[in-house]
Amino acid sequence: MGRYAERVLPRIINVVCAMGDAARLRERVCAGLHGRVLEIGFGSGLNVPHYPGTVTHVDAVEPADLGWELAGKRLAATSIPVERTGLDGQSIPLPDDSCDTALSTWTMCTIPDLGSALREVRRVLKPGGTLHFVEHGLAPDGKVQRWQHRLEPMQKRIAGGCHLTRQIPDLLTGAGFTISELDVFYEKGAPKTLGADSLGVAISP
Ligand SMILES: C[S@@+](CC[C@H](N)C(=O)[O-])C[C@H]1O[C@@H](n2cnc3c(N)ncnc32)[C@H](O)[C@@H]1O
Repeated sequence: MGRYAERVLPRIINVVCAMGDAARLRERVCAGLHGRVLEIGFGSGLNVPHYPGTVTHVDAVEPADLGWELAGKRLAATSIPVERTGLDGQSIPLPDDSCDTALSTWTMCTIPDLGSALREVRRVLKPGGTLHFVEHGLAPDGKVQRWQHRLEPMQKRIAGGCHLTRQIPDLLTGAGFTISELDVFYEKGAPKTLGADSLGVAISP
């Protein structure tokens, strides 16, 4: 990791990912989480205030040390134990069938090999366990898609490998999840190229 990725980008993510409608979407996506929760791409812990009282423990997976440091105040303010269990969603150091539910918010765009990460989430979730997600990806409209393809190389450079054109619901079903709830929309206040969101719940087989 270079200095920008280590010392600058996590601060930008901490601010940008708290803007606009993000808090309301976090509240929606966290509803129904329960028991032992795996959160991939924990960032600076912006979901922590939205964990429902039914969550008993969180295993956070996050490569950026500064993200974890920036989460300090949120971690101090919650009574739910949150442990930084791993550094990479593509290789999660937890036993099979150990988590009840999982959470990913605006992270599947960035993990280099998302297929491997989804296999890991499936392995770690108990059968029938649910993955709650809100992710940006390929827009439903052709005109926006064309801009997303044009802008993606620059986005990947400035935003830590963030892709604009991943088709998240298709990737989830391709990885063996069954999507039980899905809402696709443009996020209020965000540019359409960055704010074509899918929010839902996917069930692990
Ligand atoms: C756009 S940020 C979202 C952070 C957080 N989920 C939120 O909603 O505020 C993407 C996050 O994915 C993390 N990330 C990047 N590569 C990853 C990987 N291989 N495994 C897990 N997380 C990763 C980044 O460090 C960053 O914190």
